[in-house]
Amino acid sequence: MTKKVKNKKRGRPFTRKKKAKRGRPSKPRRPRFAKIKIQAPKGTHDILPEEQKYWDKIRRVVSQVFTNYGFDRIDTPIFEDVRLYIKGTGQTTDIVQKEMYTFKTKGGEHFALRPEFTPGIVRAYIEHGMKNLPQPVKLYSIGPLFRHDRPQAGRFRQFHQFNWEIIGDGSAVGDVQVIQVFINILKKLDLKKFTFYINSIGCPLCVPNYKRALANYYRQYINKICPDCRRRVKENPLRLLDCKKERCKNLAKESPQILDFLCEECRNHFKEVLELLDELEIPYILNPQMVRGLDYYTRTVFELWEEKEDFRQGALMGGGRYDNLVEMFKGKPTPAVGAAAGIERIINSFKKQDVKISEKEKPRVFIVQLGELGKRKGLKLFEDLQKRRIEVGEAFSKPSIKSQLKIADKQGVEIALILGQKEALENNIIIRDMASGAQEVVSLEKVVNEVKKRLRK
Ligand code: HAM
Repeated sequence: MTKKVKNKKRGRPFTRKKKAKRGRPSKPRRPRFAKIKIQAPKGTHDILPEEQKYWDKIRRVVSQVFTNYGFDRIDTPIFEDVRLYIKGTGQTTDIVQKEMYTFKTKGGEHFALRPEFTPGIVRAYIEHGMKNLPQPVKLYSIGPLFRHDRPQAGRFRQFHQFNWEIIGDGSAVGDVQVIQVFINILKKLDLKKFTFYINSIGCPLCVPNYKRALANYYRQYINKICPDCRRRVKENPLRLLDCKKERCKNLAKESPQILDFLCEECRNHFKEVLELLDELEIPYILNPQMVRGLDYYTRTVFELWEEKEDFRQGALMGGGRYDNLVEMFKGKPTPAVGAAAGIERIINSFKKQDVKISEKEKPRVFIVQLGELGKRKGLKLFEDLQKRRIEVGEAFSKPSIKSQLKIADKQGVEIALILGQKEALENNIIIRDMASGAQEVVSLEKVVNEVKKRLRK
């Protein structure tokens, strides 16, 4: 039924189907699907089930340590008005100039996916009148961020940080507590091999003199430096010290040093920070070339790197003081200091340093239930125990008490909480000591406190 026709253009034969005869139903055709291979966007990554143990461990330790140090958690939106970052992170930074993911809505609003936490947290501090709370206000966050950088080892386009800020404290103690809290987190995470660098980049009083000296120094080599640095000489000479190009890095080593330009107040502040670090026996290296890549910093800046500096991966943590940012967003003059750590990089260090991560924390309590009412009350109790940070297990899909107790036994829990039909009706519950088999009936209302008491013994 097909006849060969010459394709005049290419001279190749092709086949053309003869028209189906009228009246005869044509054969249904198989739908054709275009073969598109869809992958995770470049620079992003899936967190697979086998990786979750690292994330669970970090979340657990981070929330525990921050709570102990009096920090409260804050969650801000993943996208914000683009002007927040242009003004806050800074017009001359790589983040604003090259790395932000921005988009316009149909309504004409201009947003950016957050490239860092700090400006959003400062906005929230002002917007919610946190200046009226007892100062300082200590906040921490954990979540994803977005920077359109060239993906490489430890450098992602969507990555995760935990970030912490002390807003309303201008003392050297504030700087040191921000550092100390992270050292404590590393200890709890069993990460040992790291190096901590610190510097002071002065304040708006002393830094202009330094910028002038730096620009003059680089002008002598204007034909040797990279095009980005030629622009930096005019726009923001401090960024010259950030350049990763080898020829510019070599020049930075011989450049004038900020520490020679600090005003008296900045010098005293920095001296006090270093003395406190000595007192706490936190080892550090003074790095006068380190200025950090964000515009808001004043005075102390710091970074923590793996011991064998993996320059491709970059720092594990970075931060510093930013005494003018709140005022820049029309808040009252409020000193502040903070830092952030990259979770992917910490996990990479876990793997390199072969840190053993235990699987999920084992439950110490197990809920056993029978019947519809027992299951419903069990579900609520499960939530209540979790909220009080009691690791709890369940097997709600198993119908019999015997099979559930068997699982509880296998998991090695200390206490089983049994909600039989009678107990559920009477709003009671049985507490069973799994070691001795002793059982006691208590009211459902009191059970969480009773469990806490018994686990503490
Ligand atoms: P940052 O130095 O830009 O500072 O980032 C902090 C940490 O986030 C870095 O040390 C690194 O571990 C991680 N990080 C940054 N970019 C990437 C990336 N592309 N891929 C993977 N990890 C990355 C800040 O973000 C400031 N907001 C810190 C701060 C808080 N300063 C004062 N308060």
